[in-house]
Amino acid sequence: MKINVLKNYKELSSTVADIVEEQITKHPLTKLGLPTGSTPFGMYDELVNKKLDWKSVITFNLDVYLMNITRPQSYQSYMRKNLFDRTNIYPDNSHFPFRPFSAFEDKIKGSKGIDLCILGIGSNGHIAFNEPGSSFKSRTRVVNLDEQTIIDNARFFDSLDDVPTQAITMGLGTIMESKKIVLIANGVKKKSILNQAMLGIITEDVPASILQNHKNVKIYYCD
Ligand code: PGA
Repeated sequence: MKINVLKNYKELSSTVADIVEEQITKHPLTKLGLPTGSTPFGMYDELVNKKLDWKSVITFNLDVYLMNITRPQSYQSYMRKNLFDRTNIYPDNSHFPFRPFSAFEDKIKGSKGIDLCILGIGSNGHIAFNEPGSSFKSRTRVVNLDEQTIIDNARFFDSLDDVPTQAITMGLGTIMESKKIVLIANGVKKKSILNQAMLGIITEDVPASILQNHKNVKIYYCD
């Protein structure tokens, strides 16, 4: 698989924002799969500055912590702050994984599936919160977060003990049904896991490696 290496974080953010812009402009009824974490901050800023028309766009977030959603660290708060409150997206059109999970999956299927899914990658090779060992056939479900993920994400919380230990995530099977996938990774600390996932063997121990089986995936990385 080709890993496209970009000059810097600005170029990474604008490249993926341009891909989302093209998708929305050509197909106003687009269904997007959206990530959280630190990597997409620049992409969301660029998208907001483009002043696109989001009124017919439908979004499905990849995952949510099991926590009080009114707290600033929740992914619901993150999305409002970084994208939803800064665009004309219709609130009923933005979805987070919800129970019953079969209804969430039906909601994706009922909207004819995700057209473009943007992903980050965890330092342990997770995509969304599909931690190492997740089944390639997995669907939306509750997961226990890996110790490494809790350590990595502690920077967003007051302390390590404050980080939620569980989340709801789209499954790898769910994500793989997206028509197009773009994965973004920022920083040398992601380089070795990215190489392992995209150039190494396809194994459930490295969840992102499943993307090697997808027909339309683009990978962007910057140091
Ligand atoms: P990050 O997280 O963007 O904060 O590095 C990515 C991920 O865990 O998927």
